[in-house]
Amino acid sequence: MFRLTATECKMRKITLSRYLIEQQHQGTISGDLRLLITLVSRAVHAISVAVGKGALAGVLGEAGSDNVQGEAQKKLDVIANEILLEANEWGGHLAAMASEEMDDPHVIPNRYPRGEYLLMFDPLDGSSNIDVNISVGTIFSVLQCPEGVVDIDEKAFLQPGTRQLAAGYAVYGAATLLVLTLGNGVNTFTLDRENGNFVLTQANMRIPEDTKEFAINASNIRWWEAPVRRYIDEANAGKSGPRGKDFNMRWVGSMVADVHRILTRGGVFLYPKDTKDSDKPGKLRLMYEANPMAFIVEQAGGAASTGRERIMEIEPTALHQRVPVILGSRNEVERLVAYHAS
Ligand code: AHG
Ligand code: MN
Ligand code: MN
Repeated sequence: MFRLTATECKMRKITLSRYLIEQQHQGTISGDLRLLITLVSRAVHAISVAVGKGALAGVLGEAGSDNVQGEAQKKLDVIANEILLEANEWGGHLAAMASEEMDDPHVIPNRYPRGEYLLMFDPLDGSSNIDVNISVGTIFSVLQCPEGVVDIDEKAFLQPGTRQLAAGYAVYGAATLLVLTLGNGVNTFTLDRENGNFVLTQANMRIPEDTKEFAINASNIRWWEAPVRRYIDEANAGKSGPRGKDFNMRWVGSMVADVHRILTRGGVFLYPKDTKDSDKPGKLRLMYEANPMAFIVEQAGGAASTGRERIMEIEPTALHQRVPVILGSRNEVERLVAYHAS
């Protein structure tokens, strides 16, 4: 596994294209998977331009429609979804795509060649932050289409996260970043806005095992279960409490931004099971939010659990199913799992 400092990365100017070609030469990915990641990165660039123009391009505000989960769609949710669909439809690398913003999978139309991969995405994560100019992002996950499936529907996608071949997220923040795993570590690429290249800026990212920082929407406290309440109470008790150290709390409200902070400097992110709505076992969606983030976090040495089971081992039952999410620094996630068990 190679390890480069930020300065070395910059000096060697390893672009995403070069990185992917080298991964293909090493046998980590196929040519079609290289094409898939390349086209996703182009879509990320296009979304980044739209996000960056903001009010100047009239992309802020509500779209006036709801998605399958009954959430109001923002204009940028719809625009980002369209950009990802158009970028990936014609390349011959995909069998179908599924998205937070579409009720059913989008099967590649007959006029295009059909490939062996399935792409899932949350086109715009953190939508509630769009109109207030706070970082938002895109999350994606890649699976193999099961062999012999001709009439593709939701069932083809219902595979556990352990079967993911690649996953990543983009953060549209002060800089636009693309964080990627192909199952052999995690690398971050920064978009050079002048020439449109993504350049490797953080290689082989590792999440510190311990932390003094947690991320949770504390306004949900009255609905938390006992293990989560205990964990947060102990953290809030600080130096004189059972943990013997002071904790810090951060909550951006965009999972991509919260997870990126954790990937960079450690921490634990929780959107746990709560009793707010008995129909919903959590807020975040398994297939295109929890699984790709769990894959990335595990590949960086962290852990990802519902509190009761490893996220990537969940056998999915529906495309848009929701799950509790606890991920980040390994020792903290393990502590939370132990609290759930006791
Ligand atoms: P999305 O915008 O794709 O629906 O996802 C929003 C998610 C996630 O990004 C974030 O962690 C969480 O919702 C924020 O929830 P709260 O509104 O409870 O803070
Ligand atoms: Mn989301
Ligand atoms: Mn979204």
